[in-house]
Amino acid sequence: MQLKKWGLSALAGVALVAVAAVAIAQDVVVDPAIATMTAEQKVEAREAAMKDNGAILKSAGGLTGADAEAAADKLIQHFTDYPALFTPDTNGVGGTEAKPEIWANFDAFTAIFAKGLEGAKAMKAAAAAGDAAAYGAAMKTIGGTCGECHQQFRS
Ligand code: HEC
Repeated sequence: MQLKKWGLSALAGVALVAVAAVAIAQDVVVDPAIATMTAEQKVEAREAAMKDNGAILKSAGGLTGADAEAAADKLIQHFTDYPALFTPDTNGVGGTEAKPEIWANFDAFTAIFAKGLEGAKAMKAAAAAGDAAAYGAAMKTIGGTCGECHQQFRS
């Protein structure tokens, strides 16, 4: 009985710590809508997100303050969503330009998205701090991921 009580409160403690960790990190989560998307919808959504990222990067150089942070937030969301939009069932679907090599090298593929995500987080922090040099450097990091990935994984 005593042991059971202890076990329960220990579990509750673990749950509390988990909740606190999430709150502190303010983690951006994968868009829940992706879970119920068909393969065709995922291809459309990732192509739209790619185009959006291109447009954001083109205009973000001229932004500062809250506008720059909002631009970085959109990049952060897209980079967070991408791995979930490249599930194996989307291989060869519709007019996709995603190469089959993606699924044979998924860790290497998603590592480039992770680099983009880190860049977008650094971009947001730099925007919040008003650090123009760091902001520019972060945008360069993000921009570098586009070609790095397309060369290997986009036909
Ligand atoms: C880790 C890999 C990866 C990264 C990083 C990446 N892309 Fe892509 N991108 C792809 C793949 C794969 C496709 C093909 C998607 C498809 O057709 O299903 C694509 C497609 C595109 C397209 C065409 C969309 C369409 O309508 O067909 C554009 C534009 C694009 N990417 C822009 C970018 C920009 C800008 C960046 C950098 C900010 C970027 N991508 C970063 C993998 C990547």
